[in-house]
Order: sequence, then structure tokens, then C-alpha cells
Amino acid sequence: MEKTMRAFFLFLSKNRFLTNLAKKYGLRFGASKFVAGETIEEAIKVIKVLNKKGLSVTIDYLGEFVDSEKEAYEMTENSIKAIQAIRREGLNSQLSLKLTSMGLDISDKVVLHNMRRIMDAAVENNVFVTIDMEDYSRCEKTLRIFKMLKSEYDNIGTVLQAYLYRTEKDLHHLDDFSPNLRLVKGAYKESAEVAFPLKEDVDENFKKLISTHILNGHFTAIATHDDAIIEYTKQFVSQHKIGGDLFEFQMLYGIRSERQLDLVQEGYNMRVYVPYGTDWYGYFMRRLAERPANVAFVLKGIFKK
Ligand code: FDA
Repeated sequence: MEKTMRAFFLFLSKNRFLTNLAKKYGLRFGASKFVAGETIEEAIKVIKVLNKKGLSVTIDYLGEFVDSEKEAYEMTENSIKAIQAIRREGLNSQLSLKLTSMGLDISDKVVLHNMRRIMDAAVENNVFVTIDMEDYSRCEKTLRIFKMLKSEYDNIGTVLQAYLYRTEKDLHHLDDFSPNLRLVKGAYKESAEVAFPLKEDVDENFKKLISTHILNGHFTAIATHDDAIIEYTKQFVSQHKIGGDLFEFQMLYGIRSERQLDLVQEGYNMRVYVPYGTDWYGYFMRRLAERPANVAFVLKGIFKK
């Protein structure tokens, strides 16, 4: 049942018609639990509250189905505005983005042009940028563009997904770049040809990637809400005397907020991924797919309107 629900919400997340409809009607159905608002001003307010509680942030201007140069340009402009707001408002925040939003599906030339503009602004404002990882069909391209940018800019990292068979090799190949990596389980619907179908295998691979990357001496963000992975990491870093300058935990805005604060209290670095913007629909559907129990929020949202 849970698998069917997951597949259903991931299917809905790719619906272009609903994506466009959602943009027109504003944050609905309880989406504001996971999305910090539609404007940068709303997101800034949320970030200030989180920062006060000792949580650092990575902010993401949401965008799905970007396939025209004009849309990619607008996404780029909005990401630059977010970078400038981080500096102007003195926020403890990095930036996260998706390469498809910057034109990955259009051409290398477009995505590289937009990314270099963003990276120049990021250098100027001293902001770190993480390239999110999207579905399997974009993994190779994303890593290729990441490597090109990483050889030009220091303040850039990316994401590897523990559910993919290829990730262990990718981690190995990236080693020469000393990359700052966010490790996650993976949020997209992938076939058993490319991804571990069983949760136990994903979790085992996740642990292997965490220990390998930390022991290689590169900064590792462990992005999960899973207590078993968090406990594994705590024990691992304690056993190997790894300092807080080499790793941090990350969670999504609105998910396990109490746990986020507990980790801060325990002295760990904790970063919250804060998405905002009008294009909230696909992100929201992926969060529902991760935990069908969240559907209760949607139903409440529908009946409130
Ligand atoms: P898992 O799904 O096993 O959940 C463990 C427990 O956490 C659950 O039992 C539940 O208690 C809680 N939980 C998990 N999801 C929840 C939800 N939606 N609502 C409420 N509770 C929930 N993926 C990707 O493919 N590319 C990317 O770039 C990123 N980026 C990213 C950044 C950050 C900061 C995070 C935290 C996650 C991502 N992800 C991602 C998403 C990631 O791949 C994964 O889908 C989710 O984190 C859910 O997996 P968990 O590791 O939390 O474990």
C-alpha cells in the first residue's frame, strides 16, 4: 500500500498541468508546512527565526519543468536575488538549486552561462552553493557540469543519492575534486535497473558512503530524518574523533523540527533546507510520497478552504 501511494505521489509530482495550476492558486493544501512562502521576503522571515534557534539554512527558489531560456533566465535572476538577500540580511544561509531550473535540459551553453552568473554572485557575497541531484536521467550530466564548475569555483558542492548503484563509483571518481557533498537516500521514482529496490540496501549503502567520504577527509552533509542513520553517524564520528568542521546534519523545513533542535542542543551542526516560491507543487508531492501519513495535512487543508 505504502509503495503504491509513493508511486502515485511521485507520478503526480511530474504533472505539468497541475504544476501550472498550483502556481496560479498559491500555497494550498498544507504545503506551507514544507514551503517557507511564495516570496523571498516570506522566506527571509522564516530563516531569521530558524537562525535564532541555532539552525543554519540552505535556501532554494523552487522551479520545475524549466525548458525555455526565458524561464531559466528568470530562475537565475531569482537565485541571484536570494544570494544578495543572504548577505544583505546577514542570514546564516547557503543556496541550493536544481540544474534543470538553470537550463540543463536546454543546452550546456545555457546552463553553464546561468550557473557562472550565479557562482560569480555567490563568490562576491560569500555564499556556498549546492547543486541538488535530480532523477537518474540527469545524474551523469549534473556531475559533469558540477566538475566543470568545481574546477572554476571553490564554493560549490553537490548531492549524491544512496539509492543508486552507481553512487559508490561516483564518490570515488569525485574524490580528486575534494568535494563538499550532501548525501541523501534519493527522492525520485527509479527502476530496479538503476536503484536498490530495498530500503535495507539503500540504508547500508548510505552508511558506507558517509564513512568513506568522511574518512577521505571531505566535508559531508548527512541529509536525513532517519534516526538510525543519524545514530550511526554520531557513533562513527565519535569513534574516529571527527570534528564538527568536517560534517553536519541536514533536514528539510517542516520535517522533524523538534529533532532538528535536539541535535543543535547536543552540539551538532544542523542545516535546514528551506524552499520557497510559487512553484511548490512538485516539491510538495515528493514530500507526500516520502511519507503518506502527511496526506492527513492535505486533507485538513482541503477541508479548511
Ligand atoms: P526515510 O524516508 O527512511 O525516513 C525516515 C523517517 O523520517 C521517517 O520514518 C519519518 O519519521 C521521517 N520522514 C521522512 N520523510 C518525511 C516527510 N516527508 N514528512 C515527515 N516525516 C518524514 N533527494 C534527492 O533525490 N536529491 C536531493 O538533492 C535531495 N536534497 C535533500 C536535501 C535535504 C536537506 C534533505 C533532508 C533531503 C534531500 N533529499 C534529496 C530527499 C532525500 O533523498 C529523501 O527523499 C528524504 O530525505 C527522505 O529520506 P530520509 O533519509 O529522511 O529517510
